[in-house]
Amino acid sequence: MSEHAFSPVAAVQPAEPRIGRLVVVGLGLIGGSFARGVRERGLCREVVGVDLDPQTRELAVAQGVVDRCEEDLAVACRGAQVIQLAIPILAMEKLLGALAGLGLGNTVITDVGSAKGHVLRAARRAFAGQPLCFVPGHPIAGSERSGVEAADGELFRHHKVILTPVQESDPEALALVDGLWRGLGAVVEHMTVGRHDEVLAATSHLPHLLAFGLVDSLAKRSENLEIFRYAAGGFRDFTRIAGSDPVMWRDIFLANREAVLRTLDVFRSDLDALRAAVDAGDGHQLLGVFTRARVAREHFSKILARRAYVDAMHDNDLIYLALPGGHARGHIRVPGDKSISHRSIMLGSLAEGTTEVEGFLEGEDALATLQAFRDMGVVIEGPHHGRVTIHGVGLHGLKAPPGPLYLGNSGTSMRLLSGLLAAQPFDTVLTGDASLSKRPMNRVAKPLREMGAEIETGPEGRPPLTIRGGRKLTGMHYQMPMASAQVKSCLLLAGLYAGGETSVSEPAPTRDHTERMLRGFGYPVKVEGSKVTVESGHKLKATQIEVPADISSATFFLVAASIAEDSELLLEHVGINPTRTGAIEILKLMGGDITLENPREVGGEPVADIRVRSARLKGIEIPLDLVPLAIDEFPVLFVAAACAEGRTVLRGAEELRVKESDRIQVMADGLQALGVKAEPTPDGIVIEGGPIGGGEVYSHGDHRIAMSFSIASLRASAPIRIHDCANVATSFPNFVALAKHVGIRVDEEGES
Ligand code: S3P
Repeated sequence: MSEHAFSPVAAVQPAEPRIGRLVVVGLGLIGGSFARGVRERGLCREVVGVDLDPQTRELAVAQGVVDRCEEDLAVACRGAQVIQLAIPILAMEKLLGALAGLGLGNTVITDVGSAKGHVLRAARRAFAGQPLCFVPGHPIAGSERSGVEAADGELFRHHKVILTPVQESDPEALALVDGLWRGLGAVVEHMTVGRHDEVLAATSHLPHLLAFGLVDSLAKRSENLEIFRYAAGGFRDFTRIAGSDPVMWRDIFLANREAVLRTLDVFRSDLDALRAAVDAGDGHQLLGVFTRARVAREHFSKILARRAYVDAMHDNDLIYLALPGGHARGHIRVPGDKSISHRSIMLGSLAEGTTEVEGFLEGEDALATLQAFRDMGVVIEGPHHGRVTIHGVGLHGLKAPPGPLYLGNSGTSMRLLSGLLAAQPFDTVLTGDASLSKRPMNRVAKPLREMGAEIETGPEGRPPLTIRGGRKLTGMHYQMPMASAQVKSCLLLAGLYAGGETSVSEPAPTRDHTERMLRGFGYPVKVEGSKVTVESGHKLKATQIEVPADISSATFFLVAASIAEDSELLLEHVGINPTRTGAIEILKLMGGDITLENPREVGGEPVADIRVRSARLKGIEIPLDLVPLAIDEFPVLFVAAACAEGRTVLRGAEELRVKESDRIQVMADGLQALGVKAEPTPDGIVIEGGPIGGGEVYSHGDHRIAMSFSIASLRASAPIRIHDCANVATSFPNFVALAKHVGIRVDEEGES
């Protein structure tokens, strides 16, 4: 069976049908829609309907749902290649018994029942001792309308259909049924019968039971009129599904009894816990449940949309269109620092007491960390306008998460958490999106193992990470082979739990937010030259944190105002921790006009307002010692180099090849596409300043690349289209709005 035969393209121009006769038994909404869709798309030579109701049979033919209808099953099934059973689930057994008596040989039988175990058992009983070719199926689609009158050939388009192949589903039969559904535009997934019944019990059957039960319970009360009079939006939304067909739902609960009971029992005990919390006035417990629930739906849809290492990065490409001729003027405050935001959640969660955070970055990376701690039982309120309240659980208060911790695009979350989790009493699995799933994790797994951790990585040391709990870690000294704040921080976090002292030496200074913040939480940290030491046995005490604006986000605007004519910007309240200001140094060496105003210290981190004006930049050799201090800023510094007079050379930056993308290659490709001379080298790049043209560039899902090319438009001679920009939301959710605010002509394509 070729895919092509059932592709939507084939549907538009009906090709020679690949199957002969399809019989659909039961011409209600689902059966009728299946028959009509298959017929309209020419996927079969003939569609025959069977239904007990004479009027339905008549209508089905009159309305073109089927080619012909039969009253008698045996007559209908003569010469059938596929038989689709679309009747109520409790009637399946009798029908299957009748089919078994027809000697169907290798005719493929499939069905649409909502509980697969029940239908499978019925089929096996009915066909005992006879050949059976059966592909159980379940389309997740419906409508409030019913009957053959409502049959709609488009009903399954973009809807999920679950097939649950069993021993009796030979591969050809499976491909045939799979192809028919795909031909109708459905998204087909395969899973086991047991899994299907568990998943549906939880996501569909339980909610229906609750809706029916709640409405009935309220309706029975003597004051029911009063209750329903005040039952506004929330009640109506929650109980909408109580309007579903009662007979169908009775049958589903009888058919999927075991799985429903299991999920109901779990829910009942959770409900009891909520009752107990209300009874005991335990607001903390209630807040925990409500804050987790509030974000859970969004969180899970995110995971589904980006299913790490299964799918390609994004189905829908978010494109930025950046037009030439903009400028950069005014004063702005860019969002909170990403590194500090991550750490505020981590240390706040491990502290004793309540930590208040202000200026928290509400980007997807920091939110991934926040969600991970919620998953481990920490009650976290917000974020709301950058405010987060963390109810710390102490160093030993984390709980096992219910499933893998999904960390999206965030390398910082994965690497820092691995150190912390290696010391917990429970197991954890860390996963991420397609980009994170390619990033090297041995740099943390290896030293953690030396401390006694048990960690498995995916192939070639990449995610997912499986971390075994209950290991006793021992402190050690680690000489880091690369300059990495993530590795350093990971080991320091493990060191909070490891026996004795843990120390890390770095080959070059890297951001020291972890060290500063540990001290802010009252945890002693010893720093001697390039060596940082912690020892276990101390506590973190809750504190207040004000997150400064992120210098990495600010740098896009430092470059913007430097390269654009007649520009001047004031960037407010930016973190100027000396381990982060490499980009300012580099731009100054290139001739940038940048001044720091009103320097001050906020919560242990230095902060200033930064003024930047247009300047004639010149190419330089970037000093090696500045590389780790500007590690995240190179994509946009390359844009500055492209606008500078002469040649800029970067060396010693091989680390850039394993960031969210290979930033050397991806930037070189993009710059070349815009007509800039940019030659990648193994550990850097050589860029000749000169005119920038327009064109198409690809950010490969890397937020900083997408933003860098937006800035390049300020000096481009034609529009730049930047592909794959969705991940800008990981670090700088309001980038486009702020860029437009200062006069950069960038927007999401299709917006104005
Ligand atoms: C970060 C450290 C750096 C940086 C990343 C954030 C951190 O990574 O690139 O964006 O918050 O510790 P490396 O430690 O891999 O250099």
